[in-house]
Amino acid sequence: MIILKNPSEVKSNLANKKNLALIPTMGNLHAGHISLIETAKNYAGTIIVSIFVNPIQFNSQNDLKNYPRTLTKDIDILNKLGVDILFNPSEKDIYPSNPTLSYRLPPLAKQLCGASRPGHFEGVITIIEKLFSLFKPDHVFFGKKDYQQLMLIKQFISDKNFKINFHSVETVREQNSLALSSRNSLLNSAAKKIASTLFRNLKRCNSRIEKNS
Ligand code: PAF
Repeated sequence: MIILKNPSEVKSNLANKKNLALIPTMGNLHAGHISLIETAKNYAGTIIVSIFVNPIQFNSQNDLKNYPRTLTKDIDILNKLGVDILFNPSEKDIYPSNPTLSYRLPPLAKQLCGASRPGHFEGVITIIEKLFSLFKPDHVFFGKKDYQQLMLIKQFISDKNFKINFHSVETVREQNSLALSSRNSLLNSAAKKIASTLFRNLKRCNSRIEKNS
């Protein structure tokens, strides 16, 4: 696997590479990410994974500081999966100065998760546009776990007329039905247990609604 640290290295390393798949991540890779990579192998000749903890999508410095970072383990996983390129830039490489461009996102960006995380989705779209412009991927892969993010990125691709095939991939869950997420490692076992009831309860509500309709 080639590890690229700097955007300036990207162009020369992509020469002769065709049918590119890009899987943007913030690292601390788990079975959900692995499923994105395995799915990508069915569509693309060159698999690129980015690991970049994007500071401008965090609402609190504390959250940013505590975000789990496990680069050595992640590199090991990516090597075993046969990933071709890891892009792991520094903050300075991506944001040489404070980004000043702003995006007018659809109302969805201010609802649900966006209501309590002002600027979060603008931060996500900023890094996504940078990665898409840099790699010009033919295929991109996102997990359904972050469904709101997925919808906004899909809309962004369409609004910008990017010629990118967008793939959404099923959520991977633990046995107790908790969706795998890098942030789960920040939960203690009691909190994990509570979180795991969410999906089961939503499914129960769904089947009751279906029964009564
Ligand atoms: O879902 C994530 O890990 C991040 O929001 C993403 C898409 C890599 C952008 O930083």
